[in-house]
Amino acid sequence: MSTPAAGIPDYLEQYYWWVYVRPKAVHFFDRPWLINLILFGKYRTLRDEVLKELGPAISGKTLQISCCYGELTPRLSERVERGGGTLDVVDVLPIQLENLKRKLPHGTSAALHRMDAAALGFPDASYDQVLVFFLLHEEPQEYREKTMREALRVLKRGGKIIIADYGAPSAWHPLRYFLLPFLGVLEPTAKEMWRRELVDILHAQMASRSWRKRSYFGGLYQMLVSV
Ligand SMILES: C[S@@+](CC[C@H](N)C(=O)[O-])C[C@H]1O[C@@H](n2cnc3c(N)ncnc32)[C@H](O)[C@@H]1O
Repeated sequence: MSTPAAGIPDYLEQYYWWVYVRPKAVHFFDRPWLINLILFGKYRTLRDEVLKELGPAISGKTLQISCCYGELTPRLSERVERGGGTLDVVDVLPIQLENLKRKLPHGTSAALHRMDAAALGFPDASYDQVLVFFLLHEEPQEYREKTMREALRVLKRGGKIIIADYGAPSAWHPLRYFLLPFLGVLEPTAKEMWRRELVDILHAQMASRSWRKRSYFGGLYQMLVSV
């Protein structure tokens, strides 16, 4: 596991200590059924949609920007092994990388790097596929912009970038009025994602490309793909 110097961003300690930073939190939250519950039963759908987008056997170089709970990365690594490709996963928290290492199949070739998504230590145009799974909503806007800039910088020309995250739920969505204020307290950096399209939030980073968007659960979740 490589460890370039990287501090822990303030927002992770301030807002997300209870879900990612403390050992008890990692132990408690990393259960697929719980993640599925937190995402209103849509985790499996989103995980499988992302994997479908990448295909059953993944060749070339794949980068996953930040770890996530559940079985997405172990399944991704199996597909990468099958396709003869390589997988790099970065995260700014060592505890998350250690947790992921435990979940990956023994002998996997996946490489885990301690790195801030806002300052990736990889060369320009070095990945065929880049995946950003439910990270952007957790970041303050400044980090979000840097993360997207970095994700696009390391993507090869003609490469594919996939973003899965919260979206702006439609006006009739009951959760928009009942649940979002509650979530706003738990995940204060996410509010922006519920109000506006990602392409508008990150206009400078995203507007020059064309994006294919799919919405789930009345728009509460989205997957964006650009090639
Ligand atoms: C991808 S998000 C959450 C995904 C979703 N809630 C899930 O578990 O399915 C959580 C991860 O992002 C990481 N993270 C947050 N900010 C980061 C940053 N600036 N750079 C790298 N990793 C970051 C956290 O350490 C954590 O492991």
